[in-house]
Amino acid sequence: MNRLDRAAAFERAAAVLRENDRGAYTIPTKGLYPFQWNWDSCLTALGLRHLDEARAWQEVETLLAHQWPDGMVPHIVFHVDDDGYFPGPSVWRTGRPVPTSGITQPPVLAFVMKRLHDEAGDKELARRKAHGLLAKADAWHRWFYACRDPEGTGLVAIIHPWESGRDNSIDWDEAMMRVPTDGVEPYERRDTKHVVAAQRPHKADYDRFLWLLQRFRDLGWDNARLHDASPFRVVDPGFNAILIRSDSDLADLAQTLGEPEIAARARARVAKARTAFEGLWSDAFGQYLCLDRVSNQLVDSPSIGGLLPVFAGLGDETHQRSIAGRIEAWRKRTRFGVASHDPADRRFESKRYWRGPVWIIVNMLIADGLRRCNLADAAAKVEAGSLALIEESGFAEYYDPISGEGLGGGHFTWTAAMVAELVKRAA
Ligand code: DGY
Repeated sequence: MNRLDRAAAFERAAAVLRENDRGAYTIPTKGLYPFQWNWDSCLTALGLRHLDEARAWQEVETLLAHQWPDGMVPHIVFHVDDDGYFPGPSVWRTGRPVPTSGITQPPVLAFVMKRLHDEAGDKELARRKAHGLLAKADAWHRWFYACRDPEGTGLVAIIHPWESGRDNSIDWDEAMMRVPTDGVEPYERRDTKHVVAAQRPHKADYDRFLWLLQRFRDLGWDNARLHDASPFRVVDPGFNAILIRSDSDLADLAQTLGEPEIAARARARVAKARTAFEGLWSDAFGQYLCLDRVSNQLVDSPSIGGLLPVFAGLGDETHQRSIAGRIEAWRKRTRFGVASHDPADRRFESKRYWRGPVWIIVNMLIADGLRRCNLADAAAKVEAGSLALIEESGFAEYYDPISGEGLGGGHFTWTAAMVAELVKRAA
């Protein structure tokens, strides 16, 4: 993309961000997702900062205003009534003053806070805002290890596929077979009123998503009990890598801002997690795999989750080069990268949500990681591929890696935010 095209891409991205701005938070897209989502919002702040730094800080402050007393930051905040989305607050029934869901999402928050702080134009504002949020980020990270790693292994499990952000990934297929569907209350999906069903999870997935939700609701959303009570407990390398990177960014930020105790706690968590992480490596696949915590087996599913560990600089040079090699090999089978699942796997589906399509936010996390691992050429290819997709199909939620077609919701906020970030940071 040349300079002029980049400037035009930024303007188009800014228009999407403005369109979905609801004042103190941003919705992912109209219709399909009418509330505030956790990791959407944090990544959106990276785009918003190029329009208005104070507004970018406000985005994460609004999310954290709805943190639970136990430290969890919920995956959805239902700021308004809108029956265009299912399941809404009357299904979750978490009892929060402003209704929220009862599970969490990938903790990109501290990574975002560090970047907002370190690259701020208004340094004084950034210092104040970041300092005000440090304890909350630390509380969330402590919650993860207390509630999602009760045996102290060093790695956290997700207890619902929605927590991963990669809702219907092939990674969860086996573990989901363990989730029953009896007793699921009758429900009507709304997502397929906005997006064609072939691009969304199957009904069999939704039945199990709902069964888990009901199980946790029956336990009063008591996070001290949910982990052990869930038949779905998976250690996702992508999710853990995001937590490790955010914890290490939190440590650096806390040190800079004069909070050595927070920094020391975060560093200790990172050190323990890094050691445990290497148990997720698979020589056979040349990448990381999920660990099913119930069966204690690695899951034979080569997905993007197993490439994301570069985001936290995990593994040694051999591991990191192997991941760059996987990305290259996957790209050879598709027109656009990075597919969310190995295209050579017979279970790969190029249009179905997280079972194959390209997600620009993941591309951006992977590219950032490749640079950290001194693999700048590989990073540049991932970034260029992302911009090529925008040129081809606009700001979609996700893309078919083979055809380049835009899929899911349109005018999508975090896609726009990543483009704004990519174009402005490279300028
Ligand atoms: C959905 O409803 O599709 C979301 O991904 C769950 O957060």
